Amino acid sequence: MREVVASAPGKVNLQLRVGHPGPDGYHPLLTVFEAISLREYVVARTRRQPGIVVDTLVYRPPAHDGAPIFAPDLTRALADLPAEQHLAVRAAKALQPLAAARSAWGATSAGIHLTVHKTIPAAGGMAGGSADAAATLVAVNELWDLGLTGEQLAAVGRTLGADVPACLLGGTSVGVDRGDRLTELPPRGAEHWWSLALCERGLSTPAVFREFDRLGLGAADLPAWAGAADRLQGPAVDLAAEIVNDLAEAALSLRRGLARIGEAARAAGALAWMISGSGPTVAALAADRESAQRICAAWLAGGTESARDPAAPDFEPLGGTAVASGPAPGARVEGAAPVWITRETSSSRAK
Ligand code: C5P
Repeated sequence: MREVVASAPGKVNLQLRVGHPGPDGYHPLLTVFEAISLREYVVARTRRQPGIVVDTLVYRPPAHDGAPIFAPDLTRALADLPAEQHLAVRAAKALQPLAAARSAWGATSAGIHLTVHKTIPAAGGMAGGSADAAATLVAVNELWDLGLTGEQLAAVGRTLGADVPACLLGGTSVGVDRGDRLTELPPRGAEHWWSLALCERGLSTPAVFREFDRLGLGAADLPAWAGAADRLQGPAVDLAAEIVNDLAEAALSLRRGLARIGEAARAAGALAWMISGSGPTVAALAADRESAQRICAAWLAGGTESARDPAAPDFEPLGGTAVASGPAPGARVEGAAPVWITRETSSSRAK
């Protein structure tokens, strides 16, 4: 048996400009991705039986610092996801014909066992599913010795989901079309600290785009990328002035309580706050790591007043908080699985 461990980052959108939908119903985007330090890990193993099977273990990010915490309830909730909808399975399947064409691994009659360790909250606007696909592409490329380049993997990744190329590439990148045609911005060295408010309830991406159209938002012609890269990749105070998300109004219209979470972050010292992608995660930009931890502590101490009253119209229960930094490296093969994965994998095998 061969085994490869790979990981891929989640993302926040520093800028997300949205145009009017085209004939295919999709909205053209101009977006700036920053990969963040929350990562998905995929362990890929060869198996004798054909077919691709997957186990998914879900973790909550630590509230402030330290290792992700295994979450049996979230793991059970995801156990019903049909394998054919799992982006990790779809990523491995997408590579099978390429492996067969190279007649590697006996035309891929041999199967793969994937174990996906999720630390990026699902349906949170941080590309957790896309990171599963990105980590799987990198892992299977190595497991089957396919030798595919980053660009070839991105071409496959784009067919799986619009955020997959950004998770593969990492760092800071500009995406056009559906956000999947990427230009990498060369690294400039500044580090950003994010406090993430993870909401208990997800928010459906199609519903946010529908609300966006209903409210008549969006430019008929998207602006060309004007390249404020020095500020977007600069110190947090510069980035704070550049943050924009055209989907925020639609997400806030559907979930009014999210604004209260953002305001609580401002009161606790955030330089800016935004809805991450189509939400519902609220990402607050902090001056440094300690400030990011203070913002999370303020949220947990009840910064979102209405969360205590389920009858309030803007009731928004927090599922947790996390501190993340960016920009983070893209999808990569890992020398070894982190300790917290090894521990959880062996205990779930023992059950
Ligand atoms: O990319 P994904 O499949 O997650 O998108 C889900 C839905 O969100 C699409 O079917 C479409 O309705 C909407 N969407 C859109 N424009 C985009 C991305 C998604 O209208 N750029």
